[in-house]
Amino acid sequence: MAYRIIGLIFLSMISDILSQCYNGHLYGAKIEKKKLNFTQIAGQVGYAVQEYDVTTQDSYILKLFHIPGDKTKPVLLMHGAIDSADTFIIRGNTSLAVTLARAGYDVWIGNVRGNRYARRHVYLDPDGDLEFWDFSFHEYGIYDLPAIIDFILEQTGEKNLSAIGHSQGNTNFLVLGATRPEYNEKVNLLIALSPMCFLNNVKNVVSLMIRLSPMLEFIYTLAGREEFLGDDTALGHLFRSFCGCKSSYGGCAYGIFFPIAGSDPNEIESDFFPTIVAHYPAGTSKKNAVHISQNAIHTNFTYYDYGLRNIDVYNARTPPVYDLSKVTMKVALFAGENDQISTLKDVKLLRSRLPNVVEYKIVDHKRFNHIDAVWGRNVHKYLFPDILKVLETYR
Ligand SMILES: *[C@@H]1O[C@H](CO)[C@@H](O)[C@H](O)[C@H]1NC(C)=O
Ligand SMILES: *[C@@H]1O[C@H](CO)[C@@H](O)[C@H](O)[C@H]1NC(C)=O
Ligand SMILES: *[C@@H]1O[C@H](CO)[C@@H](O)[C@H](O)[C@H]1NC(C)=O
Ligand SMILES: *[C@@H]1O[C@H](CO)[C@@H](O)[C@H](O)[C@H]1NC(C)=O
Repeated sequence: MAYRIIGLIFLSMISDILSQCYNGHLYGAKIEKKKLNFTQIAGQVGYAVQEYDVTTQDSYILKLFHIPGDKTKPVLLMHGAIDSADTFIIRGNTSLAVTLARAGYDVWIGNVRGNRYARRHVYLDPDGDLEFWDFSFHEYGIYDLPAIIDFILEQTGEKNLSAIGHSQGNTNFLVLGATRPEYNEKVNLLIALSPMCFLNNVKNVVSLMIRLSPMLEFIYTLAGREEFLGDDTALGHLFRSFCGCKSSYGGCAYGIFFPIAGSDPNEIESDFFPTIVAHYPAGTSKKNAVHISQNAIHTNFTYYDYGLRNIDVYNARTPPVYDLSKVTMKVALFAGENDQISTLKDVKLLRSRLPNVVEYKIVDHKRFNHIDAVWGRNVHKYLFPDILKVLETYR
């Protein structure tokens, strides 16, 4: 498997050199020469975006996007691992953010620390201070989400909001509900798309990556690197130069994205692939990537494992486990049979541990996988109507 992937990547490199790189970006029905940011993509579809800076209790500055709507209860969208708010809009007029706006919702789209829209801090410099990168999804949950949620509730005067998470976007809410239970009242409903929590049953390539992760961490530490797959990191550049062309679809979609997330070439077509690669990855910390792989290695939803330092940090030899019984917010789970990361088995396990699951749906689309909820070509037809229905039911 690994050899096959390396072979495919190599082939795609050669084909890139031989062919002329395709530089257009497809957003919905329109092609743009240049990569656009969130606000520009929304503008192209006819929606005006308000941009806000939200400062967390520990002084990170996060960009929050707002597409105002008439319905009173705000809806907050939270992206997954190494991703950004862009993920909810790159499909243009069929994207989730625009679909919700068109249905009249007051839509807020968040970003977590360290990504391209949240690489800022009141006094730490992401390029100079390694301390800036000392976070994982734990901090997304205990600091970023509370700041974002409180900001929205203050702006709107509402008591609570509904939320939609993709992948690790949901992990953040589980950490929040488990560690700061008072926030369960501020989240009226969490719609969890391809939720990431237990990684006990990840498939093939993902499990290989997880087994290799201690080695990667070692290499990163040797190189003194804490930022992972950011826009201006070496690995980020390398990835974009290999996979950013339409011609690299064979090597990169089939060689990287599909084996990791689950394959559905009908949903992620070659014309759209360069747009994905332009926007994803959007950057995180090495520590976040390591924390994810630790959960898979521990086969449990645990706090960050500091190894020998656990005694100092937790006064215990092993890290504590997040207490999911404290996550009392209503949760609607949406899973896919073809998802190699958030497998059905792991989502079912999550369902059995959460006290207030109000819906559990296996998306009725055979090849639905980890990335289709945000990037799929037809997802506005087979999934978004269900999301709108669930939002209305639990208003
Ligand atoms: C997006 O681009 C527009 C136009 O260049 C700019 O005014 C805006 O500040 C950008 N927004 C972000 C969040 O980068
Ligand atoms: C998106 O825009 C295209 C081109 O304007 C149009 O043909 C299509 O129907 C639109 N889709 C939706 C869901 O509005
Ligand atoms: C959210 O607020 C509404 C009133 O706007 C209330 O009816 C509902 O119970 C609240 N939900 C939670 C979880 O507190
Ligand atoms: C995780 O750890 C807790 C506490 O030790 C334990 O009760 C639970 O069975 C473990 N596994 C899972 C999948 O929750």
